[in-house]
Amino acid sequence: MKRIGMLTSGGDCQALNAAMRGVVKVLTCSGEDIEMYGFLDGYRGLIYSDFRMLTGADFTGILTKGGTILGTSRTPFKTIKEPDENGLDKVEAMKQNYYKLRLDCLVILGGNGTHKTANLLRDVGLKVITLPKTIDNDLYGTDMTFGFQSAVNIATDCIDCIHTTASSHGRVFIVEVMGHKVGYLTLNAGIASGADIILIPEIPYDINKVVEAIEARDKRGSRFTILAVAEGAISKQDAALSKKEYKEKMKNYKYPSISYEIAEKIQKKTGKEVRVTVPGHTQRGGSPCPYDRVFASRLGAEAGRSILEGEYGFMVGYKNREIVKVPLADVAGKLKMVQPDSAMVKEAKLLGISFGD
Ligand code: F6P
Repeated sequence: MKRIGMLTSGGDCQALNAAMRGVVKVLTCSGEDIEMYGFLDGYRGLIYSDFRMLTGADFTGILTKGGTILGTSRTPFKTIKEPDENGLDKVEAMKQNYYKLRLDCLVILGGNGTHKTANLLRDVGLKVITLPKTIDNDLYGTDMTFGFQSAVNIATDCIDCIHTTASSHGRVFIVEVMGHKVGYLTLNAGIASGADIILIPEIPYDINKVVEAIEARDKRGSRFTILAVAEGAISKQDAALSKKEYKEKMKNYKYPSISYEIAEKIQKKTGKEVRVTVPGHTQRGGSPCPYDRVFASRLGAEAGRSILEGEYGFMVGYKNREIVKVPLADVAGKLKMVQPDSAMVKEAKLLGISFGD
């Protein structure tokens, strides 16, 4: 008999259900006696013992379903060691609930913050296996996360649609793509949709260079310009500020997001009409693309196999085209970012894409 706890934590994304289904398929196909406990809304469910028993039926028909059947929430790592409003020690509560249910292991699906807490739980003696989810693809220790390819498809579709309007009207269009700290999604969707300018957090931009790129297109007779801008795009000036100075600046920030600031500056400097489109959470929604269904199923299968063999303490990831097991201690607290001198950025530049640098 194996008793498995499962939870999804942090922002949702596509293929969370596909990954959980993968784990459960392997376990149920093995013939081993299994009890499954689904903790609701992420770590919150584990802290407050809010769970439901799951059966094979819960996982039927969910391969194609977006979101997560368990619900999710953000439980910031920086507050995990602080008692809650009633003085409850959250880490101790998670431990107690794990032992009360006599779990053999926890399967945790999440991104960066989730992995820090998962590693803490491993540190305090719980058996944990994690699966890497996030549309940002910014998780250290894995070349790919599920959710990412589906989000690239959505952001790409959005920019494709903007192309026709941009060319009809001869306007400058900014599409703001998700990613506060890391620009993989913007970089990939930008290249896939033929964006002319890509601005990402890892490559601070100079607004004058952005304007130069727009004017150069003008001179070549292009009537429009499309910018793919990450939520976390940052100017060279802002990147040079200290954390404190930047915080101070943001207190009086008058724009809904960076794209609107960039739009205003371009409009002032070029006299061109600029429009901003923000696809926002649509990028995390809907059915997972086939790549993510296959990828999440493969990760889930490996997690299921490891549970049967009693191996714990790692994230099931993907390196050099192979499914691998990466120790949680090597993953937690690290971010995978776009390298400004990477081949992909260099190739994008060869294609004539400006990064405003
Ligand atoms: O981490 C995934 C992500 O979608 C980021 O790209 C985005 O910046 C953030 O979550 C949005 O978070 P929330 O759903 O809490 O607004």
